Amino acid sequence: MTITLHQLNSCTASHFVELLSGIYEHSPWIPQRAEVQRPFVSLAALKIAMQQVVAQASGQEQLGLICEHPDLAGAAALSGELTPESTGEQSQVGLLNCSPEQLDVISALNSAYRARFGFPFIIAVKGPDGRGLKRNDIISAFMRRVKNQRAEELSECLQQINRIAEMRLNDLFNVTLEFGNDIMAQAEVIGSWSDEAVGLTCAFLTPAHRKTANQLAEWMCAAGMQVSIDAIGNVVGRYLSDQPDAKTLITGSHYDTVCNAGKYDGREGILLAIAVVRHLHARGEKLPYHLEVIGFSEEEGVRFKSTFLGSNAVIGKFDLSLLDKTDAAGVVMREALTEAGHDVSCIAAIARNPQDILGFVEVHIEQGPVLLQKNLPVGIVSSIAGSSRFLVEFTGVASHAGTTPMDMRKDAAVAAAEIILFIEKRCAMVAALVGTVGQLQVPEGSVNVIPQRCVFSMDIRAADNLVREAAVAAILQQIDTVCQRRGIEFSINKIIDIPAVQCAPWLMNQLQRATENAGVPVVVLPSGAGHDAMAMANITDVAMLFTRCGNGGISHNPLETMTADDAELSAQIFLDFLRQLKPQA
Ligand code: GLV
Ligand code: MN
Ligand code: MN
Repeated sequence: MTITLHQLNSCTASHFVELLSGIYEHSPWIPQRAEVQRPFVSLAALKIAMQQVVAQASGQEQLGLICEHPDLAGAAALSGELTPESTGEQSQVGLLNCSPEQLDVISALNSAYRARFGFPFIIAVKGPDGRGLKRNDIISAFMRRVKNQRAEELSECLQQINRIAEMRLNDLFNVTLEFGNDIMAQAEVIGSWSDEAVGLTCAFLTPAHRKTANQLAEWMCAAGMQVSIDAIGNVVGRYLSDQPDAKTLITGSHYDTVCNAGKYDGREGILLAIAVVRHLHARGEKLPYHLEVIGFSEEEGVRFKSTFLGSNAVIGKFDLSLLDKTDAAGVVMREALTEAGHDVSCIAAIARNPQDILGFVEVHIEQGPVLLQKNLPVGIVSSIAGSSRFLVEFTGVASHAGTTPMDMRKDAAVAAAEIILFIEKRCAMVAALVGTVGQLQVPEGSVNVIPQRCVFSMDIRAADNLVREAAVAAILQQIDTVCQRRGIEFSINKIIDIPAVQCAPWLMNQLQRATENAGVPVVVLPSGAGHDAMAMANITDVAMLFTRCGNGGISHNPLETMTADDAELSAQIFLDFLRQLKPQA
């Protein structure tokens, strides 16, 4: 049976509840409470309304909803006692014909999970792209989640239930996604090209990186864009307006990744823009401005320890002295570029003329838990946190671990440890201030020698520059104090100091309008992560649209995830934004 929004908006309250009775397992109270919000302007609005009912329910009701669900491939499933919806879902991914060994593993996990949490394990088996998780992925998610804290797991189950409901609604409405499936499938394709045998690592100019660039260029071309790869490896696609003198709106994000990355960080913003252009081109629809989609070659700073190489070239601030930097294997950046077929003498010419640009709008996965916790698929970014990064080196005295009394040591690692704890404490004092020591080494350390050297990186971020600067000053002062007291020498090397960027209200307002048009409540949130938009803000107004991140908001991790439905909605909102864009007067 297929139903329409019009039917749902115009039927009686009891018919509404009946039509939606299979969406949340044995829980008619959810459509009952959502019903009063009719009419719904979109399917997204209906989904969100029901999710908000779940979020606002009492703890008892939420637990009751979770407990209405059957065990995964449990006794009820095997004896055919599930709801038709659950039977369909569990059988589609092969859970109803597991091997005896797999059934044993699942049954042991079901028991361990129930014993720990007192409710059944719930997973949307159709997965983020709706095409079905593999049995082994389900089992490994089960093994991981059984170790979670109870509160964490409760909210994960509710999110999984909302995802199940979303896909049941899609089936009921016979929804076909225009963009979301392609975005997810293409992220999967380039996500499988890695510098490492296991996991996704795609660093500047490696074979995987160059293969990715060529693939993006091919997809841009097929979508109807004029495409080139510039001298720093940016993949640039232009969807030309039929008004030749028009200005250009730039969008896009980076295609390089951190080590062992997620598949969507950066890439979503490129693939989504390509999907939207493909749609416009297929309909012969032109925009009153040129649209440029840039796949920035480098943002993460993995290979040459220098970030924003791609976007800095576009804004005309590429520091040519970086060409002499070497990677961990001793390869010089200049040689890596030349070897990849780039002419480094053309880098300066990549710079855009700010007069030609309308603005820069980047779509990016949120990489945090805010949208997930608010049950909202997208959010509008207000500002991007500024970032100060340092490498700090401590030098003490190596001496015998067995013979040197505790009060006679000059231990570089303990000095560093004291500072790391100070960073944690200082940054926890202020909301929206964060500090991280992501690299920590005791070079040439031995188990029986007091550390002579200790090196760490620190990354301090805040949306407010004064807050960040005050924290940095306090930390530098503490390094001095601790090292004086412990008789340790230190050196500090600043590697990045980028101020926070405010998004342009005129662009944010237009993203807001497009979000409202889609029937989605507007949430405005700051970005703690850095983005190419920070560099672009040097030459033009910027804005960002965030897409909800699954799995508790984890990112820079292979567990990073998003759904095809959220990608779809983000693309629809971005398309509406492009169509209605009114340049700043
Ligand atoms: C980039 O991903 C950053 O925020 O570190
Ligand atoms: Mn990143
Ligand atoms: Mn990113």
